Amino acid sequence: MDPVVSIRGVSKRFGALTALDAVDLDVRSGEIFALLGPNGAGKTTLISIVAGLLRASAGEVRVLGRDVVRDYQFTRRAIGLVPQELNFDPFFTVEETLRIQAGYFGVRLEEARLVEILAALELVAKRRTNSRALSGGMKRRLLIGKALVHDPKVLFLDEPTAGVDVELRRALWRYVRTLRARGTTIVLTTHYLEEAEELADRVGVIDRGRLVVVEDKAALLSRHGTRTLRLGLAVPVAAPPPALAALGARLLDGGAALEVEVASGGTAGPVLAAASAAGLAVADVETRRTTLEDVFVRLVAEGARERRG
Ligand SMILES: Nc1ncnc2c1ncn2[C@@H]1O[C@H](COP(=O)(O)OP(=O)(O)OP(=O)(O)O)[C@@H](O)[C@H]1O
Ligand SMILES: [Mg+2]
Repeated sequence: MDPVVSIRGVSKRFGALTALDAVDLDVRSGEIFALLGPNGAGKTTLISIVAGLLRASAGEVRVLGRDVVRDYQFTRRAIGLVPQELNFDPFFTVEETLRIQAGYFGVRLEEARLVEILAALELVAKRRTNSRALSGGMKRRLLIGKALVHDPKVLFLDEPTAGVDVELRRALWRYVRTLRARGTTIVLTTHYLEEAEELADRVGVIDRGRLVVVEDKAALLSRHGTRTLRLGLAVPVAAPPPALAALGARLLDGGAALEVEVASGGTAGPVLAAASAAGLAVADVETRRTTLEDVFVRLVAEGARERRG
């Protein structure tokens, strides 16, 4: 299937600064793509170029096969953008804000659709409230509503849940999945790695303007993934028994626990067997699997090491 968004050789320079450096990326139809990267990596710049808010210094971007510069009207309408920064007129109510936004796209906002958006964002009770009287998290939700009024094919969410409480964040994740189930393609940036781990089908990591990884989330996790096995000991030991040391065991808590990494695909069996053969008094066993956060931190650290040479 043709990509919904196709980015080819996109660079962006701000004076001497190269904010994006020859980025190539295809976003597939119907996927949730998470764009990750440290502060200043270029995420917002890339999204702004796709949404036609910024011009690339080089390269081209197509949305649904159309060039975002030459066919701006068409591509802008295909896109919903939830910007990172709050940007609405504080003099209108929630409902007016959404209606005005629909007006920009020449869309009539049906009552049922308005209510659906308000309900999904838990803003029904605030429908007639002036937007300046909303809390920070509510303002962010209103921004999401604004991006949805024209029923875009592709939704860009630039840190959609920054400052949103945990419960509501989960409600928003459910809604993002609902949108995807209806065929909306979603690109999101986030600093909450848990959010990407929860939602994304594929993950891209951008670092200093370069897209360093684009991979299926599950593949990324299993390729870099390990599980850590922690054995709590009823009787502390002074050193790991040789059979466990050979498996890479480390002592923790002054000898009251042992930690061993098990490669992805490996099993805990040999570790437990070695512990038992060594006569260790194992009081409890915990396992922890690598999270996307661990992988992300490692990838960015590796990139920094390579740059230092
Ligand atoms: N209008 C601008 N003029 C000059 N430099 C800019 C401009 N917009 C962004 N930059 C620079 O480009 C780089 C990338 O910024 P960008 O906002 O894309 O980062 P980001 O990945 O979205 O970061 P964050 O996670 O903090 O939102 C930064 O060094 C930033 O200072
Ligand atoms: Mg940003």
